[in-house]
Amino acid sequence: MIVWQSNIDLKPWNTFGISVRAKWMVTCTSLEEMREVIQDDRWKTLPRLVLGGGSNVLFTRDFEGVVLVNRLQGIRQVSEQGDQVLVESAAGEVWHSFVLHCIQKQWAGVENLSLIPGSVGACPIQNIGAYGVEIKDVFESLEAVNAESGELRSFDKATCQFGYRDSIFKNAEKGKWIITAVTFRLFKTPKWNIQYGDIQKELERLGYSEPTLVGVSQAVMNIRQSKLPDPKVLGNAGSFFKNPVIEADLYESLLQEFPSMPSYPAGPGKVKVPAGWLIEHSGWKGHRAAHCGVNEKQALVLVNFGEATGNEVYDLSTQIVNDITQRYRITLEREVNIL
Ligand code: FAD
Ligand code: EPU
Repeated sequence: MIVWQSNIDLKPWNTFGISVRAKWMVTCTSLEEMREVIQDDRWKTLPRLVLGGGSNVLFTRDFEGVVLVNRLQGIRQVSEQGDQVLVESAAGEVWHSFVLHCIQKQWAGVENLSLIPGSVGACPIQNIGAYGVEIKDVFESLEAVNAESGELRSFDKATCQFGYRDSIFKNAEKGKWIITAVTFRLFKTPKWNIQYGDIQKELERLGYSEPTLVGVSQAVMNIRQSKLPDPKVLGNAGSFFKNPVIEADLYESLLQEFPSMPSYPAGPGKVKVPAGWLIEHSGWKGHRAAHCGVNEKQALVLVNFGEATGNEVYDLSTQIVNDITQRYRITLEREVNIL
């Protein structure tokens, strides 16, 4: 039996810790419960939101509709062929628990994505990525329920149109599907991805002469914990902006003025510039507005000191966007979903 809760404070339901109210909230632990919700008049007539861990949303107002919390559970091996294993996880599993499960089974492919907050069901939405790996690298397919009809459909990798922090679910299919399960193609023989950032150095510091799944996972966790604020201590949603991809010509001309501006290759004629660098070098790092600010360790992360409203955070982000545009002719795009 599903329970419809009304007038719920969403503060515990989003890692930014923004206090707004949801008119209705319903938690689903099975496909049948989801279909029951989809047939309900409240779902049919009011605004809808599917929520996993609430770690990539910024609420700027009360949500005058239905919040469906996805808590579908279960991880299973679908098949095994040679070195490859197909593994399906229900959407409501906690992403990091799924990663730990894979490591325990010696299935390689997601270890670099350790400690990313949130649910398995949300991982394809923005093609989560960290330390040189993105979901698209291990993605096989997903199952989703149509939010209008309740029809179940499978999406393969090509259909999902994954890009940097992007997929079809942020574009043409936005809000149309409730993801119920994701299938990953993992490997029994790891393909190490340890060149990125300080992973190699951290592995050595931990005493690993050769990488292992546990070691890489631990190294990634240590690096993340040293850089990113813990939402339990300081409300945040990870990187607030995407790293902008700009024309190589623009980058070359900016280098004349800002010789230390870093960049990474991003396809023919394009480079990616770390937004954290742009924000830090514009004097915003550690900036504090009334109840929110720019993290002092990682300038790409906006934080809530406790009582911020979503609009305060959003206004701060607008000031940063305007300032960066003026200084560098680069328009920052928000990564966080604004509601
Ligand atoms: P939510 O915030 O609940 O939802 C995000 C969006 O997905 C919403 O639009 C929601 O409607 C939709 N959605 C959620 N579940 C479903 C579903 N089952 N079906 C359909 N739509 C759904 N991201 C990275 O990519 N890399 C990082 O390194 C990273 N680091 C982070 C560090 C911190 C400290 C924090 C707080 C966040 C970080 N993030 C990172 C962002 C976040 O972890 C990811 O975006 C994650 O996938 C969000 O999962 P969630 O379940 O919390 O999604
Ligand atoms: N930098 C600064 N100052 C800062 C922060 C960063 O100058 O305050 C510059 C430095 O040059 C640094 C570079 O930015 O070398 C990269 O910084 P970092 O390694 O911390 O990564 P990021 O580009 O800021 C991205 C992702 C993260 C992901 C990490 C690790 C985006 C938007 N963010 O951050 O993802 O964990 O790389 O792979 O692509 C998220 O999406 O929420 C997220 C945290």
